[in-house]
Amino acid sequence: MTRRKPTLAVVGATGAVGSVLLQILSQRADVWGDIRLISSAVPEAGGQESQAGHKQAVRGVETEVVALSAEALAGADVAVFLAPEEIAAHWAPVAVAGGAVVVDASPAFRGDPDVPLAVPEINPHCVRSRPRGIVACPGDTTLALIVAVGALHAEFGVCELVVSAYQAASGAGRGGVEALRAQLSRVAGAGAASGSGSGSGAVTGLGTTPGDVRRAVGDDTGPFPAPLALNVVPWSGSPREGGWSSEELRIRDEVRKVLDLPGLQVAATCVRVPVVSAHSVSVHARFEREVTVARAHEILATSPGVVLYDDPAAGDFPTPADVVGTDPTWVGRVRRSLDDPRSLELFVCGDNLRKGAALNAAQVAEAIAAELSVD
Ligand SMILES: NC(=O)c1ccc[n+]([C@@H]2O[C@H](COP(=O)([O-])OP(=O)(O)OC[C@H]3O[C@@H](n4cnc5c(N)ncnc54)[C@H](OP(=O)(O)O)[C@@H]3O)[C@@H](O)[C@H]2O)c1
Repeated sequence: MTRRKPTLAVVGATGAVGSVLLQILSQRADVWGDIRLISSAVPEAGGQESQAGHKQAVRGVETEVVALSAEALAGADVAVFLAPEEIAAHWAPVAVAGGAVVVDASPAFRGDPDVPLAVPEINPHCVRSRPRGIVACPGDTTLALIVAVGALHAEFGVCELVVSAYQAASGAGRGGVEALRAQLSRVAGAGAASGSGSGSGAVTGLGTTPGDVRRAVGDDTGPFPAPLALNVVPWSGSPREGGWSSEELRIRDEVRKVLDLPGLQVAATCVRVPVVSAHSVSVHARFEREVTVARAHEILATSPGVVLYDDPAAGDFPTPADVVGTDPTWVGRVRRSLDDPRSLELFVCGDNLRKGAALNAAQVAEAIAAELSVD
């Protein structure tokens, strides 16, 4: 019996995450037979134009992008969804009905008890039980911190997390990056006109008077509720009870599910920052047992998918500008809390388009491909 390599369908191949997945598929061991690239069918009113009919390179081959349909999905062995939540919610079951196992990067199924939430470094076995034929991936902020926190949890037993996430514009997709770039160019023009930087040493010009950045950016702030250029915006997602955002509650739910700790105390604050790609997270983690920085360093330095980069005296700590485009979770600023010998403070950075989305989806899809017996 000869085994053929499984067929992969990539839904959302033309988006911010999809484009990175195509690079990753070209870089990793080639476990796939045919790879189908799928995008939206029709331009939505006022929305981005459909990329169907265009070509994208994957594994060095220019491949035509086709519009999403039941026919495009039929017969695929694995379908990776990198599309908006409502598209995944509708079409993932169609892909399953057509014979595929679905790996979904959107939030659509993350909270479903019959859908495992997979991070291969932490819970690799969860993908084997998938009653709905769907495996979900956590969101980008959870993925930025979970590999490091999960490694520390295995030794010390985590019981509380307080996280502040500094989220890059590409977390809001292609539209987020386009909006940040447009805003930066508008403020650069307004800054030049206002004479920023020329003067006597007094801090003057754009960004020094209330409302002047808003006026320079204009009313169109893209997917962000306030200007992102020269600013930080303490909001992502939609409003939920008690003043929380959907994104903050998701982090709590996802961390609990991946670590299988339904009672874990988690408080998250999400802040959008004017960075193109790579999320950063400041983490306060309280454990059941006493911690030492030396032991935390040993654990982090030897955990798969983690790079310890922690020598502030030498200027060594992770920043988005340094880690963007890389796969691992980078950890620095490891400190034992001054007032609690059971707590650690960390600063974590990871590329939200790689481990935060496309790489995790690729790892999960490869694990499924390895177990599929395709004749
Ligand atoms: N960005 C991140 O850091 C990140 C991290 C983790 C998870 N995610 C999740 O990953 C998914 C994709 O995010 P993204 O940032 O890549 O978004 P994006 O840049 O806006 O790309 C969206 C993709 O979905 C496709 N699409 C849109 N409407 C469609 C439709 N009606 N039918 C079929 N395809 C459609 C788009 O195709 P066209 O090119 O034809 O418009 C494009 O390929 C989202 O669910 C997001 O929540 C994103």
